[in-house]
Amino acid sequence: MTIQWFPGHMTRARREIQAKLKLIDVVIELLDARIPLSSRNPMIDEILQSKPRLVLLNKHDLADPAVTAKWVAYFADRGLQALPVDSTNGNQLKDIASRCRELFAAKIATQIRKGINPRAVRALIVGIPNVGKSTLINKMAGRKIALTGDKPGVTKGQQWIKVGSEMELLDTPGILWPKFEDQQVGMRLAATGAIKEELLHISDIALFLVRYLASHYGSSLQERYGIEKLPEDMKDTDAVIAIMEEIGRKRGALLSGGRVDLEKASLTIIREARAGKMGRISLESPDDLR
Ligand code: G4P
Repeated sequence: MTIQWFPGHMTRARREIQAKLKLIDVVIELLDARIPLSSRNPMIDEILQSKPRLVLLNKHDLADPAVTAKWVAYFADRGLQALPVDSTNGNQLKDIASRCRELFAAKIATQIRKGINPRAVRALIVGIPNVGKSTLINKMAGRKIALTGDKPGVTKGQQWIKVGSEMELLDTPGILWPKFEDQQVGMRLAATGAIKEELLHISDIALFLVRYLASHYGSSLQERYGIEKLPEDMKDTDAVIAIMEEIGRKRGALLSGGRVDLEKASLTIIREARAGKMGRISLESPDDLR
């Protein structure tokens, strides 16, 4: 199935973000630490232009820490500070605020020189749906914020949320669209739950996932499902499907007559991988780009 990347959505989202850029000093770009490039809008540089930017690699708690460290270096090479975070525990809130202050430092220095009391740094969170924008905003606010504007085209009055004494956050995030015309990108987005799994065939997503896990996290996969031997050639689709069937049998995902219910087995694999049952896994690494 071909998935469309709706240009209309993107144009509107872009216009909305650019209107917000006028109000803020720093952009916080939220990416999924497991798939930083696939969860990134490819037009982001063009949209944000020269606005100072902090990249947050969110859901760090679910990602492979060694791969995340490589992503931090990858972004540093491109002049961007990237910070791994877990928005569900707010442990890095101070760090986020101080990095934003640093990115705004030149302006703060000018204000001090002119004898003006430096004002709080104003930030906007941007990211694709499901990347954790509202979770982070709620953590930073210290309360639950109603994000009724959480859809491109749906606007509401914007408010500033105070984060400590030195930072203010716009309560409506900028929603970006992922670009999932590329099959692999679509698979990664579906496997992590960034796009609805119904957009693709569930067994194709699981096939992609099992193939990737078997290649990169083989022992975790074997341990979780008690698999004795993994295929030698991961390109051998039948062998990868055989693994999925083995998992299905072990999980009791059977149709009448004893055949494996591959859809059900696929759903189990996807849900368990997403929930971190196979440990912390990343589905994209800078090493894959070489
Ligand atoms: P959005 O505003 O960008 O659309 O994303 P949202 O905050 O709604 O987060 C989407 C899902 O991701 C939520 O789970 C949220 O709990 C989870 N999430 C956000 N940040 C993190 C993180 O750093 N680590 C982990 N492990 N999960 C994170 P959900 O299952 O959709 O909802 P719920 O279970 O929280 O109710």
